Amino acid sequence: MMQYHIKDLKLSKEGKKRIEWASLRMPVLNILAKRYEDNKPLKGVKIGACLHVTTETANLVISLKKAGAKIRLCASNPLSTQDDVASSLVKDYGIEVFAIKGEDKKTYYQHIDRVLELEPQITLDDGADLVATIHRSYKKSISWLPWAGTEETTTGVVRLRSLERQNKLLYPIIAVNDALTKFMFDNRYGTGQSTLDGILRATNFLIAGTNFVVCGYGWCGRGIAYRARGLGARVIVVETDPLKALEACMDGFWVMPIKDACKIGDIFVTATGNIDVIRKEHFLLMKDKVLLANAGHFNVEIDIEGLESMSTSKRKIKNLIDEYVLEYKGKKKRLYLLGEGRLVNLACAEGHPAQVMDMSFANQFLSCIYIKNNYPALQKKVYKVPEEIDREVASLKLEEMGINIDKMTPSQKRYMQSWELGT
Ligand code: NAI
Repeated sequence: MMQYHIKDLKLSKEGKKRIEWASLRMPVLNILAKRYEDNKPLKGVKIGACLHVTTETANLVISLKKAGAKIRLCASNPLSTQDDVASSLVKDYGIEVFAIKGEDKKTYYQHIDRVLELEPQITLDDGADLVATIHRSYKKSISWLPWAGTEETTTGVVRLRSLERQNKLLYPIIAVNDALTKFMFDNRYGTGQSTLDGILRATNFLIAGTNFVVCGYGWCGRGIAYRARGLGARVIVVETDPLKALEACMDGFWVMPIKDACKIGDIFVTATGNIDVIRKEHFLLMKDKVLLANAGHFNVEIDIEGLESMSTSKRKIKNLIDEYVLEYKGKKKRLYLLGEGRLVNLACAEGHPAQVMDMSFANQFLSCIYIKNNYPALQKKVYKVPEEIDREVASLKLEEMGINIDKMTPSQKRYMQSWELGT
């Protein structure tokens, strides 16, 4: 019998329509699903997925099922689940889902355990909570290991590389995040647009004319900074890496330390993958009515405990906005935290648009087939997505966008490979 734990099966009708809407803009994934539907290269393969339960993820797991896999899915963040999508996956597509928007920490980890009960041969993770649970439980409560897994995001890859460096990684992982057709598009354009979308949906704020502080000028931070500038904000970048700071500077942004930025910022967004980027001493320096949001993977970038401990009162303004009131030295100040400091684009909006997830999930899909065909030769390492997969995804995307590009002539190819350059 099918197993699942979701909010309400009755939400499926709306979820199905939204899954189909996303599918319209995921042509590469659709081509791959069609290509492998008949010969089913993943026939009988058990896949455990811990991903944001969104319309785009739904299309990935449906495609994997068409290729023959048996899948269990749980959320990779307690606030990112779209309950109608979870419902439709169960009811309309026969996929076992364990995810409820707003689930508490205990339920979140129980759902991961339910996915692991499947004893998956392949794991798909976003942030490495599933893989970390396997590492914590191995030999204590579980005795099997997957063939290999994939990791979707920067923070997950950082955690897994740390395990690899300590020789503690128990099974091979393919870092899907590090595919060029993933981070250059999903992290930059996806996070850029959807972070602004999350802030706008939650607040209906006018971005034009604000001082908009972006902490972290990596792939996500760049996307956010450009989109905020596009909406008319004066964008300030906070960085710790001199190269990225220099790049931000030459891209035309103000660059300064957080202790200076926090005196003038109206909106703050963190996207660093690091901890305590905005802390107690910064809250004290901020102006009244500032908005705080995070786009990094975990809710650790803004020191929420510090904020709680300093505030004299807290109330919910809207479902996704908490007002913190700080009173000190006879002054009173209100700070507004969006989406509990969790990924604002998923907590307050719908995450990345389908067009970019098309490429990220095409990499996921092809990586699963690669694992099935190659796992005996893989070692306990974090691998890059094979270059041929990256190139295929880029070519298919261009084709679907109706864009033709040139091919090098044979003499151009020879010239580019020769050391005898010149006349
Ligand atoms: P990245 O490694 O390209 O960039 C992070 C940047 O933050 C680096 O330039 C680093 O120098 C900087 N940084 C680190 N500590 C800092 C500090 N204390 N203050 C200022 N800057 C600091 O990483 P990427 O790909 O941009 O990812 C950032 C985070 O966003 C990760 O947690 C990642 O998992 C997450 N992410 C979130 C997505 C979303 O949908 N919201 C999508 C993709 C990634």
